[in-house]
Amino acid sequence: MAVTVKNAQRVRKMIVAERIKETREIIGSWRKQGLSVGFVPTMGYLHEGHRALINRARQENDRVVVSLFVNPTQFGPNEDYEKYPRDFERDREICEKAGVDLLFAPSVAEMYPSRNLAFVDIAELGEGLCGAKRPGHFRGVCTVVTKLFNIVLPDRAYFGEKDAQQLAIIRRMTEDLNFNTRIVACPTVRDADGLALSSRNAYLSEVERKAALVIPQSLQAARQAMDGGERDAARIIGMIREMIAKEPLAAIDYIEVVDGETLKPVSRVEGPVLVAVAVFVSKTRLIDNFWYKEGSTCF
Ligand code: PAF
Repeated sequence: MAVTVKNAQRVRKMIVAERIKETREIIGSWRKQGLSVGFVPTMGYLHEGHRALINRARQENDRVVVSLFVNPTQFGPNEDYEKYPRDFERDREICEKAGVDLLFAPSVAEMYPSRNLAFVDIAELGEGLCGAKRPGHFRGVCTVVTKLFNIVLPDRAYFGEKDAQQLAIIRRMTEDLNFNTRIVACPTVRDADGLALSSRNAYLSEVERKAALVIPQSLQAARQAMDGGERDAARIIGMIREMIAKEPLAAIDYIEVVDGETLKPVSRVEGPVLVAVAVFVSKTRLIDNFWYKEGSTCF
């Protein structure tokens, strides 16, 4: 039976690589054949949001690389690095089924063989929102994404809009440092009841998960008020705060309305803005947001 190119691609076996050298060699051989490479960096415990990134990468590239690495340099000393959910076998299967060509799963020693002296920092874009609450977080993200980009040299890299500040920072870093990679933003994927997908949702008990719904519900209410003409940032924040405060398991970390480009707080909604929240549901910190621009909204 004749095997079409399409069929041949579908039966291609996924390669798992733990070493940087091997990863570079495999990707280098694709490049020699003139194949384009799409890259989805992850910390694993993959969900439908990651699958959407992988699917988009598949559509737009000849080969897809996923990295699976829980990056210690982006966690603060009292954060959840140790207990961050990990399940390599499950992630491997998801990637294989999703048609990933290369799963790069390095150890910490492979990525950081000695104490890093060089870091990549992003100045004021990393100072507000999550950056203000998680000192050093975006320095760790920028550093590991730079390392990963230097290993994979992707044509395109895929990031979710749920991590809106991360996305803005990586876009800017890519521009400022002249990476030859196009950053592709993909919409937040939500469960049917509106909760944004996150690997950290795995920490939630059934009761906590129900309580967490106050996050998308309060954002939805804010968006409706903005659709109805509300432009005062303090009133928008107040409306979200009031709804979240009614949920006993929820504690607000921040609620902000920021300029879509500078990520600096605004007092009135005049241009494109990001409405972003971080909320602890019991001990689990969840983030969510929506972009608002006159005449069009993403949620
Ligand atoms: O968004 C994430 O999962 C991580 O911050 C990233 C981009 C993989 C870097 O570790």
